[in-house]
Amino acid sequence: MNDLALEVKNLSFTYPDGTQALSGINFSVRDGERVGFIGGNGAGKSTLLLHLNGTLRSNGSVKIFGLEINDKNIHCIRKRVGLIFQNPDDQLFMPTVFDDVSFGPVNMNLEKDEIIRRSREALSVAGMEHNIKRSSHHLSFGEKKRVSFATVLSMKPDIILLDEPTANLDPGGRRELIDFLKTIKTTKIIASHDLEMIYRLCGRTMLLNKGRIIADGETQEMLIDKELLESNALEAPLALYLSG
Ligand SMILES: Nc1ncnc2c1ncn2[C@@H]1O[C@H](COP(=O)(O)OP(=O)(O)OP(=O)(O)O)[C@@H](O)[C@H]1O
Ligand SMILES: [Mg+2]
Repeated sequence: MNDLALEVKNLSFTYPDGTQALSGINFSVRDGERVGFIGGNGAGKSTLLLHLNGTLRSNGSVKIFGLEINDKNIHCIRKRVGLIFQNPDDQLFMPTVFDDVSFGPVNMNLEKDEIIRRSREALSVAGMEHNIKRSSHHLSFGEKKRVSFATVLSMKPDIILLDEPTANLDPGGRRELIDFLKTIKTTKIIASHDLEMIYRLCGRTMLLNKGRIIADGETQEMLIDKELLESNALEAPLALYLSG
């Protein structure tokens, strides 16, 4: 198996209205790495994540375990790279929690028993099995977020992309989510303004500004660089200082 989970070369992207969101992005991520993407509003974090599972495509190349994303393999890529949106309402659209979580496995043409097994397992890992029969739209925000994770986990992806996973969670829910994410060993790419969460989960961080990667290095080192953070609309997390 290719040791590089992700390889991005010369990726640039302009939205149809002419907004240039990404410019000359190059990086690679090893299998099993946990990488944070940080940067102010509009830096290009979400746009970049959307390129990593082929939702958006442009010039430049994105390879997943050595396989370049193209029209022919996009179906297979979506199974291997799971994207968890910032807003769970963008992820959940079926009548019940079970329908949402089994949607991926059903589309993978798995046997019925395997679909049920995977869906139950994913909901159990996400702490949501007791809600299996409920309507996703009746759940609290944090519960919807957990079900969103389950919809991706049920596909057993090789790479998980998370866009602002802790946004709008209460402190307890946020703590639980961080602990939960620590237990999942899959390669993870996390875009967020929550630098303390990035510090706890990601050994490596890349800083984006105006669609360019302007720093790539050890999270611990980057997050104590007050000048770098403050000149990029960010702020060093207090916990880093408190923990010495
Ligand atoms: N659908 C769209 N059409 C046009 N421009 C867009 C669209 N989505 C994003 N953009 C623009 O692309 C740039 C990057 O946006 P993106 O959402 O990727 O930033 P971000 O780093 O995720 O920001 P945030 O921290 O606010 O989530 C911004 O200038 C934004 O205005
Ligand atoms: Mg975003």
